[in-house]
Amino acid sequence: MSDLAIVTVETLPLGEVVWRKDLYPRLETNPQTVDQYAEDLTVLPPIEVNQHHELIDGWHRWTAHKKAKAERVPITVTETSSETHLLELAIRRNAKHGLQLSLEDKKDMARRIYNGTAEREREGKKAALAATLSVSERTVRDWLSRIDKDTKEARDKRIFAAWLACRTQQEIADAEGVSQKYISEQADSYQTADLPSGMKAAAEHATDFEPPIYNVWKQQDKTPGGKHFGNSEVRWVDNLLYLYTRPFDVVIDPFAGSGSTADLCRKRMRRYWVSDRKPAVGREDVIREHDITAGLPRLPRWRDVGLVYLDPPYWKQAETATIRRIWRTWTCRSSRRLSVILSASSPASSARVLTSR
Ligand SMILES: C[S@@+](CC[C@H](N)C(=O)[O-])C[C@H]1O[C@@H](n2cnc3c(N)ncnc32)[C@H](O)[C@@H]1O
Repeated sequence: MSDLAIVTVETLPLGEVVWRKDLYPRLETNPQTVDQYAEDLTVLPPIEVNQHHELIDGWHRWTAHKKAKAERVPITVTETSSETHLLELAIRRNAKHGLQLSLEDKKDMARRIYNGTAEREREGKKAALAATLSVSERTVRDWLSRIDKDTKEARDKRIFAAWLACRTQQEIADAEGVSQKYISEQADSYQTADLPSGMKAAAEHATDFEPPIYNVWKQQDKTPGGKHFGNSEVRWVDNLLYLYTRPFDVVIDPFAGSGSTADLCRKRMRRYWVSDRKPAVGREDVIREHDITAGLPRLPRWRDVGLVYLDPPYWKQAETATIRRIWRTWTCRSSRRLSVILSASSPASSARVLTSR
């Protein structure tokens, strides 16, 4: 970051200089220096502040002005673009004046600057930090390893979530700023056995579930919470996941409505591809926009698809050529056992398994 943008030399009332103690946690005032500076303020160079009058450099000069009961202090203003920029400037200026930071201070500052640096720029930042703080790059790497580990863990969680949502490898790679090969390796590594125990139990329907004994569609009280008009009873969908899919299978729901199928798939570790003619407001990141009458959507690998769940707005639609064409085409494409289920959520309809082979 360039810090050459010194724009003005002026004076400021002493009380308007902002002292950021958090930037200099262990700074100690040297009384001799203050006394010496206070003797003749006119020979002192201006202190340096940013556009918010936060002190970048000149603690002893500013203190000397206070001691000499001056009203104003000469300043130069350097624009800073972020907290990190301000912090970096403060370190550099202090180093220049020989006011050395302790190793603890340097470590603390390195972490703060690194945290404030965009993930994509972090690798190059390490060498710059080592130079600014006058320590080896290896020391900087040691200090930052915990942050790197946490960042990787959080990124891998996002990658897993996007993979469950059937985003393409390239889409995920672009969003995370990593190679498509990395995403491919991650996807290859996903095994139910490696899931944390809570997720594994949910994926295997070992928690929060009673297997249907007589009838998948048995009328139950609606699960509270689903606000969408005509939303599916989630326990029906859970029964279908249990009976017709395995963990990490792809479930397709082209009439997603409120998106409850996607929510359940996340819980049960099924991948999901859900769309709607009008994605519910606020759920556009989960529900893709697609009008099924315009044709089949572009879908993930068919051999991964275990279930197509059709919950059209009303039963009449189920009798249209569109629905029939959809399920015929889809079942033809699948190379494995694929279930296409028509929901019973519409009144006066009975659920039908259109095909299951
Ligand atoms: C019965 S609701 C689905 C409810 C959903 N299963 C749930 O639990 O929230 C039917 C959905 O189909 C959508 N829809 C209607 N015609 C459509 C079309 N041609 N293409 C895609 N979606 C359509 C509607 O917007 C509506 O959200």
